[in-house]
Amino acid sequence: MTSQDASKKFPRLQMAFRGTPIPTEPGQSVGAALVAAGILGWRSTRKGGRPRGLFCGIGVCFDCLITIDGVPDQRACLIPAADGMRLADDAHDEEDDDVRPA
Ligand code: FES
Repeated sequence: MTSQDASKKFPRLQMAFRGTPIPTEPGQSVGAALVAAGILGWRSTRKGGRPRGLFCGIGVCFDCLITIDGVPDQRACLIPAADGMRLADDAHDEEDDDVRPA
């Protein structure tokens, strides 16, 4: 099978993360597509601002939360990637960054 045959059988899809095009394959999760594109962290912790991305990869740890098409708190490891998805930092992270201890 040539690469042209493969592209006809398995058309490449595309999402956008912070405006950057992210190619994806049918059946790939959002998290897998981000990692395949070299993006290993897409949100940060409330304390310390440490980067987070895939950890367990099976929907248990919630490290991979991301905003998909404006809906926050989606687990990137469980959501199938789809053509035209818009991915962004989790909206709650930005709000939580403004919270200061009393
Ligand atoms: S990586 Fe653990 S829930 Fe998604």
